[in-house]
Amino acid sequence: MSTATIPERDALVQAALAGRDIDALLVTGLVNVRWLCGFTGSNAAALVGADGTRLFATDFRYLTVSAEQVPAQWERLIEQDLLAALTARLPASPDSARPLRLGFDDAAMGVREHLRLAGLVGDGVELVPAGGLVEDLRAIKDRHELERIRAASLLADGALSEIIAAGLVGKTEREVALELEIRMRRLGAEGISFPPIVAAGAHGALPHAEPRDVPIPAGTLVVIDWGAQLDGYASDCTRTYATGELSEHDRGIYELVLDAQLAALAACGPGLLGREVDAVARGIIDAAGHQDHFGHGLGHGVGIEVHEGPRLSKLGETPLAPGMVVTIEPGVYVPGVVGVRIEDLVVVTDDGIDIVTTLPKELQVVG
Ligand code: GLY
Ligand code: MN
Ligand code: MN
Repeated sequence: MSTATIPERDALVQAALAGRDIDALLVTGLVNVRWLCGFTGSNAAALVGADGTRLFATDFRYLTVSAEQVPAQWERLIEQDLLAALTARLPASPDSARPLRLGFDDAAMGVREHLRLAGLVGDGVELVPAGGLVEDLRAIKDRHELERIRAASLLADGALSEIIAAGLVGKTEREVALELEIRMRRLGAEGISFPPIVAAGAHGALPHAEPRDVPIPAGTLVVIDWGAQLDGYASDCTRTYATGELSEHDRGIYELVLDAQLAALAACGPGLLGREVDAVARGIIDAAGHQDHFGHGLGHGVGIEVHEGPRLSKLGETPLAPGMVVTIEPGVYVPGVVGVRIEDLVVVTDDGIDIVTTLPKELQVVG
């Protein structure tokens, strides 16, 4: 497992450059800059060279904050035009027979910015899409990141527990979602991972349902999906609750999703491809005749962003590795009838997983 801390992440990037045949990397995605340099402001870019170049650029508003946050090995540039400032300081090509190969954050750079970059660097530089170089490194969390994600998750669990203790029936979905958000902030969250989803009955069949001004009835299932942001890191969790006696159908759907979730958790560990873990849960849901009712992937990485790599879906070709933090969140969504999703946050360890989420999963009946 990587134990790199922020001061060491530039070395990880430098090592990855060689594998991609890139001489220097221009990092313009703010989340990537934050991961790399520890900078939390709203405008910054960085340049990492295989030759040891370490440049960080931001504007005057962040003169003081950047001095506090950005490790000493980075030369800081305080400029209005970050691209111009960094491209003016590109290293020379290591081979005079070919142009400098400059990687750029292709996932984070728009077409207009790319055109401008091409104009700034001119013909002597070859622009190379870096294709998730920093994102791949971000997928493996160091111990500080793991602590933060655990703390965010624990805070979110605590907020939801307060909501559940106060009951659901008769409150509107929007009231519950708002109260959950307020409680997370009261408990110290700096933000929310995404607007909470609270969806009762047939509304729960929409995987990303928007909470409505509709009271939650007794005798149905309620999907609650929420997350807190703490110290720059996100959490993500879903629980589905019963608000009284359920129909046999709805109870059966709950048990099916729980079986699929537990099987995927049991299978999950280092070395498996994302699609292989997805297939474990999907096989159980498909075999029960619900192959058309689980249309999203099994899970995703969580870190500074609530959705990041690796992907656990039919398209997930990344092998899981120790230090990755992913969700395991199968669901069954029967249109017009009911929906169930159960989502845990887990850390991939050397020999399996460690479940971060602390809330129970046996069906809970809440008044
Ligand atoms: N609410 C988004 C997710 O669980 O991925
Ligand atoms: Mn999720
Ligand atoms: Mn979620």
